[in-house]
Amino acid sequence: MNSAPPKKILIIGASGQLGRLCLKTFSGAADQVVGTGFSRANLDLIRLDLSKAGEAGEIVSRLQPDIALLCGGMTDVEGCESSKEKAFQINAESPADIAREMKKIPASKFVYLSTDYVFDGDAGPYGEGAEVRPLNVYGASKLEGEKAVLEASENNLVVRTTTVYSFQAGGNNFMMQLLKRLSQGEKMRVPIDQWATPTYAPDLALALKKLVELDARGIIHAAGPDFVSRLDFAKKAARILNLDETLIEGLPTADLNQKARRPLKAGLRTELLKQKVGVLMRGVEDGVSDFKSLFAHS
Ligand SMILES: NC(=O)c1ccc[n+]([C@@H]2O[C@H](COP(=O)([O-])OP(=O)(O)OC[C@H]3O[C@@H](n4cnc5c(N)ncnc54)[C@H](OP(=O)(O)O)[C@@H]3O)[C@@H](O)[C@H]2O)c1
Repeated sequence: MNSAPPKKILIIGASGQLGRLCLKTFSGAADQVVGTGFSRANLDLIRLDLSKAGEAGEIVSRLQPDIALLCGGMTDVEGCESSKEKAFQINAESPADIAREMKKIPASKFVYLSTDYVFDGDAGPYGEGAEVRPLNVYGASKLEGEKAVLEASENNLVVRTTTVYSFQAGGNNFMMQLLKRLSQGEKMRVPIDQWATPTYAPDLALALKKLVELDARGIIHAAGPDFVSRLDFAKKAARILNLDETLIEGLPTADLNQKARRPLKAGLRTELLKQKVGVLMRGVEDGVSDFKSLFAHS
C-alpha cells in the first residue's frame, strides 16, 4: 500500500464539514474516490445510514475500498446524551462493522475520526498516551469506536481532533454560527471555561491525506497549535471577521444548562503529527483569516 497509490478510497460522511473537504483533498489520490451521505446524500453520494445495523458493512463489502475514512457520525453532543443507544450504534457499532469488512480486504486501511471528548478535561491539552475518561455519551461512544477500529487491524488509524471549523455555506460549525449570529446582530452565548485547540478543517483534510500516504497507524492527534478558551477563540475570530464582539456573551459552562457534561481543559497536543507530516495546522489567526477570504469570495 505504501508504494502504489490505492485504487479506491471510500469517504463515509462525505456530506459533512470534514467529509466534503476530504472528498476534494483526496481526489486524484486514488483511481476512484467515492463518498456516502445520509440526510444530505445527493446524486454524487451513496446513501448510508449508520444507525441501521449491518448497512455500513454491506456497503463496504460491495465497494471493496482499499482505504475507508469515517468522517461521519453522530456529532451532536446533546443529541447523543438523550439517544444513547443510537449514539453507540452510529459511533461504535457501525464502525466496528466497517472494520470487520475492511479486514477482509487485503492491505486495506480504515481511518476513524475521533475527538478530545474521550478525555475528562482535567489536564488538557492531551497527548496520544494520556489516560482516557469520557464524561459524556458522545465521548464514550467515540472511545468504543476507536477501540473496535484499532483491535480489528494493526493497519488502522484513529485521528483525534477538536473544535473543527471551516467556511461552509449552510454549515453549522462554531465559526459559521458565530458569523451568522453576529452579522445579524444577534447575541451569542459562549462558554468561558471550555478550552481546546481549534482546528481548521482544510488543514485537517490535508493532514489526513498525508497520514494515509505515510501509512500511519495507531492513534494520532491532529489539531491546531493554539490552546484557547472558547470565549477567546470567539472574540479573536470576531475581530478578524470585523464582527461586533460585544454581542458575544461569556458564561460558565455550568450556566449553559447542557445535558452532556463537557471536558473543560481539553484540546490536543500534536508533536507526533508534526514529526510525521511537518507543520501544516494553522493557528486561529491564520485559519480564521483564510476562512474570511473564502467567505469574501462566496
Ligand atoms: N466538528 C468538530 O468540532 C469535531 C470535533 C472532534 C471530532 N470530530 C469528529 O470529526 C468527524 C467529522 O466531523 P464534522 O464536523 O465533519 O461532522 P458533521 O459536519 O456533523 O458531519 C457529520 C457527517 O455524518 C453523517 N451522518 C450523520 N448521521 C448519520 C447516519 N445516521 N448515517 C450516516 N451518516 C450520518 C452526516 O451526513 P448528512 O449530513 O448527510 O446527514 C455528515 O456527513 C466526526 O467523526 C466527529 O466526531 C468533530
